[in-house]
Parts: sequence; structure tokens; C-alpha cells
Amino acid sequence: MCTPTPGLRSVMVLLAAALVSTSVTSGEGWREEGVQYGQVGADVVLSCAGAPGRSGVEWWRDGAAALPEGCILRDGDLLLPQAELAAGGDYSCHDGTGQLLCSVSLRLGYLPGIPSVTCRASDYENFSCSWTPSVETFLPTRYITTYRRTQTSQVGPCVQDPGRPHTCSVHKCEFWSSYRLNVTEVNPLGSSFRLLDVTMQAIIKPDPPEGLVVEPVPSAPRRLRVRWQYPASWPKQPHFQLKFRLQYRPVAHGSWSMVETVNLSEVITDAFSGLEHVVQVGAKDFLDAGNWSEWSAEARATPGPGLTVTPGDEAITNAGLESPAEMPSLAPNPEPIDRSDPMEKVAILISLGIFSFFILALVLGITIAVWLRLRKPSKDETKKHDFLAAAVHMRALPKPQIL
Ligand SMILES: *[C@@H]1O[C@H](CO)[C@@H](O)[C@H](O)[C@H]1NC(C)=O
Ligand SMILES: *[C@@H]1O[C@H](CO)[C@@H](O)[C@H](O)[C@H]1NC(C)=O
Repeated sequence: MCTPTPGLRSVMVLLAAALVSTSVTSGEGWREEGVQYGQVGADVVLSCAGAPGRSGVEWWRDGAAALPEGCILRDGDLLLPQAELAAGGDYSCHDGTGQLLCSVSLRLGYLPGIPSVTCRASDYENFSCSWTPSVETFLPTRYITTYRRTQTSQVGPCVQDPGRPHTCSVHKCEFWSSYRLNVTEVNPLGSSFRLLDVTMQAIIKPDPPEGLVVEPVPSAPRRLRVRWQYPASWPKQPHFQLKFRLQYRPVAHGSWSMVETVNLSEVITDAFSGLEHVVQVGAKDFLDAGNWSEWSAEARATPGPGLTVTPGDEAITNAGLESPAEMPSLAPNPEPIDRSDPMEKVAILISLGIFSFFILALVLGITIAVWLRLRKPSKDETKKHDFLAAAVHMRALPKPQIL
């Protein structure tokens, strides 16, 4: 029927090569009966296959005689100089009697642009990449996604899942290898690729921890116990652990307090009694590779006055530092929550004690040294002493002999 002439194909090849250096024409795979693809802004030729080189041929568009402005009829072919996007449609050519000779569906669009690609690993073995086209081409498009391992030159596919368009994943990666990803956008006019170098350490970003639970601690009005679990997408392995950070604040309060831990639970010691708190937890590779996860879903709890606290005690507590009434006055302070720990104070006291002990010992040592030097005996004195000792000795000796 009405297939494009080989000459037109080579024109399109040239155009594709000239416009995007990373473009390769691939007419293959897009050959549909009666469909012709053309590039917006280029000259498009529709040939009437039933009547090559014949005069007296008429062209219709979408069943009517109205053709786009500026089109030229030449030897039975229809020429659309610098075709506009709106010139696409169903064309048909007819002989003088209105008899249909052939029909062609013209689809106009643009060459693919270079897609923008981002990659992320939510575990330590697999990563996935997603991309967005940089040009709206108006044409059917597919993507070829491959990787090459930089050290070994091993190549493989970045596997596309039809359920998740514009993403692909590489499985069973080596954590310490780097990968060069090639995302090629292909349409009937040509193709265009983006290369991206990927290392797991740089792109790893765990999913948020799961199962966050916050509970008040009985008889501890400033404490909240928080626990959580590894994200399901991060199988636990000795070599690939996560660390965590908590952020928490009273619901009515603007600024977060933050604490980091390697455990799966933590006790907040500086919560405000009687105020509802909101807590979230995030995760990151234990060795600090990559990025922090998004924050987990929120969990809330109110540290209570505690089970052992009587209403009388509660009144005393409320009059004290932890009074919720003090909150507004604390609000403008950027660090309103006193994060000092009783253990910290004890540690400071102990180090002060050790320090003063050493100072004392030093002073004592210097004093002794000075005193020894001042009373350092002369040689005569020594002799006198020896003489004295001898005298004492001699006097002491005879005693038993006298007795
Ligand atoms: C990597 O992906 C494979 C296949 O989806 C999965 O079986 C494996 O558990 C993943 N690895 C990790 C560490 O999650
Ligand atoms: C990227 O992939 C496309 C399609 O497989 C290929 O034509 C192109 O040569 C590749 N580019 C590089 C630099 O490997």
C-alpha cells in the first residue's frame, strides 16, 4: 500500500543524526500498515502508492477535501513543507472519479530528548532507576535500559516492570562496584540516551522504619519509650546494619528534638508531662553511606504523671519546671528542651573530682621536692650524723656486755 519511499527514510536519518548527537534512527519495530511518521518542522512527503507519478490525483484529509495550508501536490505526491504538528491526520488519495487509491495515517512528532534519570537503592543488593522524558514527542516511545559494570565490563539489562512505567531495576548488585546505566529513549524518528554512573554507596536510601510505637513510661512523667523495626525491604544481615534517628516534639510545638541511635528502641527523657508528643523515626546505612530514609509514619503518646503519682503530687509537679504552663514562654527559645541527663551531671562531677585530685597531687609533689632541696644536708652534717650513729652504736653495744 502506501509505504514511505526509501529516499524519505534517508532524509529522516540525516535529520536525526544532525539534531541529537546521541540519536540513532530505528525505523524497525515501528512499521505499521498504513502509518507514516514524520518530524514536526521537516518536509513530509505522502506518496500515492496506487498512482505513482500520476497527475489528476486528489488528496483528502480526514475524509474531506480540505488540506493543511501550504501543501503542494507534485506528481501525485502530497508535499507538506515544514510540517506542523496539527498537520497530522488520516490522508487518502483518490483518482479523478473519487475512487480511493490509498490511505495513510500521518503521525507527526519530535525526536526523543535525552531523558533525565535518577537512581535509588532501598536495599544493599538492588537498585532501581526512574526517568522522565525531556521532550513531549507525541509519538509512541519505548526505552532500552542496560547497565555496564565499570570494573568488569559485565553488561546486563536494567529490568523494566510493565506495572511501573519509566522505571527499571538492577538486581544482585555488588555493593562496592560502580555501574554505568544507559537509558535510551526510542521512537519512530530516532533515539537518544542518557548515561549515568551509579554506586550503591552513593544512592542507597533505606525505606523508613516500620511499626513505630510510642508509650508513656509508668511513674516517669518526662519519659516516652519508643520502639520500631527495620523496614521490610532491608533484610537484616551482620554486614549491612542500619542506624536510626528519632525526631519528637509536643504536638503544639514547632521545633523538633533529635536523637540518634543504633538500637531498635530509645527512651526519650525530656518529654513534657501531660502534653501529647509526636514522634517519627528515620534510618540510614550504619556506615553512613547514602542518604537518610524518609521519616516514618507518625506515632503519638502523652507522657503521664505516672501510676504512682497521687493528685497531690501532681499539683507539686505542675508547679515545678515541667509545668505545661511554661511552654509558651519557652517557645521562642530555639532549644527549649533541657536535654541534660542526670548521668551526664554525675560524669561531670567525677571528672572534676579526678582533676582536682591531680592538681592536689601535683602541688604536694612540688612542695615535697622544694622541701627536700631546702633541707638537703651538707657533707659535715652527714659526717656528724655518722659519728653520732657510731656513738649511739658503741654506747648501745656494751650494754649487754655490762649486764
Ligand atoms: C534484591 O532483589 C531480589 C529480587 O527482587 C530479592 O529477592 C532480594 O531479597 C533483594 N535483596 C535485598 C537485600 O533486599
Ligand atoms: C546505550 O544504549 C543504546 C541502546 O542499546 C545504544 O545504542 C548506545 O550505543 C548505548 N550507549 C553507550 C554509550 O553504551
